Amino acid sequence: NLIYFNGEYVNDKIAIDPNDRGYQFGDGIYEVVRVYNGMLFTAREHFERLVRSAAEIQIKLELTVDDYIEICQHLITENQVTDGLIYVQVTRGNALRNHIFPESFKPVTLIYSYDSARPVEGMDKGVKVITLEDIRWLRCDIKSLNLLGNVLAKQQAHVGQAVEAIQVRDGIVTEGASSNVFIIKNGTIYTHPANHLILNGITRIVIKRCAEELNIPFVEKTFTPEELYDADEVIISSTSLEVTPVTQIDDQTVEIGPVTRQLQQAFKEKIY
Ligand code: PDD
Repeated sequence: NLIYFNGEYVNDKIAIDPNDRGYQFGDGIYEVVRVYNGMLFTAREHFERLVRSAAEIQIKLELTVDDYIEICQHLITENQVTDGLIYVQVTRGNALRNHIFPESFKPVTLIYSYDSARPVEGMDKGVKVITLEDIRWLRCDIKSLNLLGNVLAKQQAHVGQAVEAIQVRDGIVTEGASSNVFIIKNGTIYTHPANHLILNGITRIVIKRCAEELNIPFVEKTFTPEELYDADEVIISSTSLEVTPVTQIDDQTVEIGPVTRQLQQAFKEKIY
C-alpha cells in the first residue's frame, strides 16, 4: 500500500522520529475522509476543517486544500480503493522534547488509505449506545490528535457491548466518542450547536443540508439525557457511520423512524 509521508510516496513502512511532537504530546490534528466508488466524498469540507484546526493550534500547513485532494486522489488510484477511508494527520513536527513550541518547526504530514465498506448493517438494524460523562477538554471543535477522552469513552461502550458512547457534560448531551448525536421529536431534528463542546462533523453538515431539502425542521439546540431517552428517533453520524439509527440507549429501547429513513435515503443520493 502506498503511503504519503513528509512530501514523499513510500510503500507500507515509514520511520517516525522519536521526537515527533504528535507522538510525544498528541500535538497535531487529523481528518478522516470517505471514498465511495473510488471517489472522494466532501473532501474539500474536510480539508477546510483541517486548515481551521491547524490555525487554531498555530500550525502553518505547507499544503493547500487542493494539494491534499490531489494526494488523496493519487493514493486512491495507486491503492485501487473503491470503498474506503483516508486518514490524514499533521503534527507540529520534530523537536527535542519540550512543551513549548520549537522556535521554528516543519509540520510532519502522513496520509494513507484503507478499504472500508459502508456500515450497512448498523444503518439498517440500528445500534446500541451507552451514556457517560464527557471528560474531554473544552476545545472539542479542534480535530486534535489528543483522543484519550474519546478512546476511554469508546472502550467503555465496547465493554458494554455498545457501538458508541454518548457523552454528557453538565446535564447536556454533547456528542459521541467519534460521532455527532441527533434526536427527533415531533418531526423536528435537534442537535448540539456547533460550538467549542463538539466537533462540527462534516456528516452533520450534510445531514443538515438533507433536512433542509426534505423540509424537515433542523434545530441546533442542546438537549438533556432525559430528552434523549424520550426522543421519537435517535441518530448518530460520522464519516464512517453515515446516518446510523440508535435502537438502544443504556437499558432503554428506541424505534427506528421515518425521519431517519428519509435522511438515509437523501444522504445516499448525495453519494451516488
Ligand atoms: N470521527 N465528533 C467526534 C468527536 C469525532 O471524532 C467525529 C469523527 C465526529 C463526526 O465528524 P465527521 O462527520 O466529520 O466524520 C464527531 C472520525 C471519523 C474518527 O475519529 O474516526
